[in-house]
Amino acid sequence: MAESLKKAFVIGHPIAHSRSPKIHGHWLAAHGIAGNYQAIDVAPQDLSAFIGAMGKNGLRGGNVTIPHKEAVFALVGRLDTAAEAIGAVNTLWFEDGMLCGGNTDAYGFAANLDEHAPHWVANGPALVLGAGGAARAVVHALKIRGVKDIRIVNRTLARAVELRDRFGAGVSAHPQAAVPDLLGDCGLLVNTTSVGMAGKGEGGLPADPSRLPDRAVVTDIVYVPLETPLLAAARRRGLKVVDGLGMLLHQAAPGFERWFGVRPEVTASLRALIVADLGAAA
Ligand code: ATR
Repeated sequence: MAESLKKAFVIGHPIAHSRSPKIHGHWLAAHGIAGNYQAIDVAPQDLSAFIGAMGKNGLRGGNVTIPHKEAVFALVGRLDTAAEAIGAVNTLWFEDGMLCGGNTDAYGFAANLDEHAPHWVANGPALVLGAGGAARAVVHALKIRGVKDIRIVNRTLARAVELRDRFGAGVSAHPQAAVPDLLGDCGLLVNTTSVGMAGKGEGGLPADPSRLPDRAVVTDIVYVPLETPLLAAARRRGLKVVDGLGMLLHQAAPGFERWFGVRPEVTASLRALIVADLGAAA
């Protein structure tokens, strides 16, 4: 029956390239759930009306992506602690009739490292490249998991300082020129900038991983290409590397559970499905 179909969405502008429908479609099929997850292009001027009509349209919730992650903040009745700390919402659901906004990006970031480099928390200082929305989620994850020394480097130093002030103790801000000196004792290097992303020019390296100690883990939140120039250089240097696709897959799981009632797993077959899709698009 159409009425019993559980419906969720991802909204963004543009949204055509979102991989989320493939991820949730895979889980819906795997669990035999009568559900539907659609990508919907919502222009900024239509966001408030779309959110207001969710319940009436039988939508249980969904994901929110660029450019709506911050704007949706003001349109929900309740925020989870991650959304509040990060200042952005990527997941919507209803609880006792109230629209709630959460952020699962920090969870996804940490779960990806837990899966592929479980020693990451105890590995020493972390260096975060970039100070945008993605960096806020990463720094929140590092803080709540107990990383004691978090160094933020950004091309525009003022944004790194802003992030340091937002997250407080244990977080420091540095100009790009300081990177070589900061890398020597780092246990974790995270790229959250668009340097190395396909379609963003030559990109190149946001930092030189040859200066990292042997124990260091290097991760990039960019997943197109799957192996960014930074990850390739780190791999050649013999370091443990973790690509950004796992973060995308893991951040999706809590939303699926809220809308469809089952906690899904990030499996090798899900990853292979999305890797194939990325390959087809390239
Ligand atoms: P997101 O929300 O995905 O983090 P964003 O807010 O646009 O996106 O942030 C992009 C980040 O990449 C910023 O830290 C940006 O640096 P600035 O704050 O100086 O703009 C960084 N970035 C983008 N292009 C860069 C480049 N060519 N070199 C260094 N950093 C770059």
